[in-house]
Amino acid sequence: MKKFIHDLTVKSVEALSSKHVLLKLTSDSPLPTITPGQFVEVRVDHSPSTYLRRPISINLVDYQQNELWLLIAMIGDGTRQLGKLHVGDTLNCLYPLGNGFTLPTEPSENMLLVGGGVGVAPLLHLGHEIKERGGEPSFLLGARTKDDLLELDLFQQLGHVYVTTEDDSLGEKGFVTDHSVLKKEKFSRIATCGPKPMMMSVARYAHARGIECEVSLENKMACGLGACLCCVEKTTEGNLCVCKEGPVLNIKKLLWQI
Ligand code: FES
Repeated sequence: MKKFIHDLTVKSVEALSSKHVLLKLTSDSPLPTITPGQFVEVRVDHSPSTYLRRPISINLVDYQQNELWLLIAMIGDGTRQLGKLHVGDTLNCLYPLGNGFTLPTEPSENMLLVGGGVGVAPLLHLGHEIKERGGEPSFLLGARTKDDLLELDLFQQLGHVYVTTEDDSLGEKGFVTDHSVLKKEKFSRIATCGPKPMMMSVARYAHARGIECEVSLENKMACGLGACLCCVEKTTEGNLCVCKEGPVLNIKKLLWQI
């Protein structure tokens, strides 16, 4: 797939919490087709300690509005700098990178999208594409507390949303894999993104029931193009670059102890 380096213009900046900001970017030319799960490497200007581009999941592509959404967790100098962008600023983006999630072949597929923390970001795009194809995705979203649940209203517009919080402030108490829906409903496919322990737990659930499951890995990255090898994951097919052959991998390829 062709890659682009564009200066995208910041159309809006919305604080979703004290640690998260949603950037909506736009371009003079039509955005390319982007598969849910693909990501952008952004160049962070005005941050002397941020030498390398930062990989950021694509939260949504709104082709009608020609908008690309990035949900940023402000956890370091680079991402904090991104949170200081203003409407009208430009952000240099290398995209679309990586492979993306497998989309359901039939609208009737009962697909579950499981996200934790800022890992929910690519699942909004995935849910949107499933709905566009006539499907109705289910979402299982977990966070430490209700204030850490991001974009809940947008997920609720796309399908059923099940929630867990560790402090019992919303939904069922505990982790995503504790949710009662996993005992009641039968899902044909699972896609997950979030903290590795959460994804391992989801992978264990799927593996035990023979459910197809893809995870979006968040290995450290630099070039984003398969050149520096800093993002390698050992798999059943040997070492794979998560930036190029991932970030989405079927759990059958992983050497995780699940
Ligand atoms: Fe350089 Fe993946 S980030 S090879």
